Amino acid sequence: MEVSTASCSALSRSSISECLRSSFLGGALTNLSATRASLSFSRQTRTSFCRAAISEKISSEIVTKPVFQHCFSKKEDGFLYCEDVKVQDIMQSVQEKRPFYLYSKSQLTRNVNAYIDALEGLSSIIGYAVKANNNLKILQHFQELGCGAVLVSGNELRLVMHAGFDPSRCIFNGNGKLLEELVLAAEHGVLVNIDSEFDLYHIIEAGRMVGKQVNVLLRVNPDVDPQVHPYVATGNKNSKFGIRNEKLQWFLDEIKRHPEQLRLVGAHCHLGSTITKVDIFKDAAVLMIHYMDMIKSQGFDIKYLNIGGGLGIDYFHTGAVIPSPMDLINTVRELVSSRGLTLIIEPGRSLVANSATLVNWVTGVKSNGNKNFIVVNGSMSELIRPSLYGAYQHIELVAPPPPEAEVCTYDVVGPVCESADFLGKERELPTPQEGAGLVVHDAGAYCMSMSSTYNLKMRPPEYWVEADGSLKQIRKAETFEDHLRFFEGL
Ligand SMILES: Cc1ncc(COP(=O)(O)O)c(C=O)c1O
Repeated sequence: MEVSTASCSALSRSSISECLRSSFLGGALTNLSATRASLSFSRQTRTSFCRAAISEKISSEIVTKPVFQHCFSKKEDGFLYCEDVKVQDIMQSVQEKRPFYLYSKSQLTRNVNAYIDALEGLSSIIGYAVKANNNLKILQHFQELGCGAVLVSGNELRLVMHAGFDPSRCIFNGNGKLLEELVLAAEHGVLVNIDSEFDLYHIIEAGRMVGKQVNVLLRVNPDVDPQVHPYVATGNKNSKFGIRNEKLQWFLDEIKRHPEQLRLVGAHCHLGSTITKVDIFKDAAVLMIHYMDMIKSQGFDIKYLNIGGGLGIDYFHTGAVIPSPMDLINTVRELVSSRGLTLIIEPGRSLVANSATLVNWVTGVKSNGNKNFIVVNGSMSELIRPSLYGAYQHIELVAPPPPEAEVCTYDVVGPVCESADFLGKERELPTPQEGAGLVVHDAGAYCMSMSSTYNLKMRPPEYWVEADGSLKQIRKAETFEDHLRFFEGL
């Protein structure tokens, strides 16, 4: 969602911020689209979309005083900083002029600490969802801070063990876990979620092959009513994940029949992602506790309540009030402690997303007569969320524009040979010069981990700013030579 300054130009600045604020505090995305539609003008030509960056107070104020403050923020000099380091300086110091991911290590620490603080006094495991970002250095950092891990493949298990995680504080999820992956999990004492009938039999088989009891949780489908909670994307009846709740007794009977291979230790659910209302977690937890009471009444000694991940972040940078980890945990705290349970949470996005940007160089600016484009060297290969989900990630330039730069409505696109290759659509930006720096914000989750080498754009390097302000490379750039290596000797 974007409310452009051009669209709002007939309104006063205070009514714009009011419109943003009331939209977000109102909470529903449908309201946001309605607000946007009501503010939009009809299609205009390039010239009517552009104006001088300094001629209107609103533009310069937006450039110099963003509402949203986090580890990447514009300071009074108009430059973008990562913590206290100018992104422009970082761009000059990296060796190659190719897109790269830039993280704040301190933000990663703060994100984990927010969960640690929220969980104070509860028995708990923070299972970091590795699929959000599998950078080894980030994993090692999270491990040192005390996290467990949530895995969706055997290779993710291998990676977290390499990073030093305790496998008994790791959870293996998935609707299509392979026998060899389950054997690896069973060998190392990983907690395994049962997702279906065949999954149960594969876990039993893995336990038999390894000669060990596997600690299992049942992935229940809470089927939270989407009418009440429109943000729910999974955890409903049509999801491919989880068991059919009507068959719960069948699963319990099968587990009882295999005491040598299985030990039921808990129940799991995962409602969806980018959730910005925490009541939904409470509703699900109430239901889960009901199931757990029923399971316990049959003699099972279960202690883990796993409520999954899914907490959203403020992708729109409007200063919207997004629930914090504390808000989330407080909705379930009473329920968990009243039963003496250990709470497992599986955050991914809320631990990593806001810690990073994708940094790009502007290759050029063009227009097709109807639309204006900023072409950068990053693309859907490095960051696919906008193309894949139509996701909004905030975009801005890293340095103040020259005074004569016009503000225009631009699609920010990459060089990949696909019309779906865009990083942002219809963004109000000052016209950048070639070589200018442009960042895509909130790129720490589901960006690098979803990147590809499409069009032979090799995966980008990653850096983080250390707590002392120094820059450290945390992943090497993939190279053309890496690609050729797959064919060596064939
Ligand atoms: C089972 C499970 N747990 C945790 C997560 C992490 O979710 P998020 O990154 O939204 O916190 C996911 C993501 O889809 C998931 O499927």
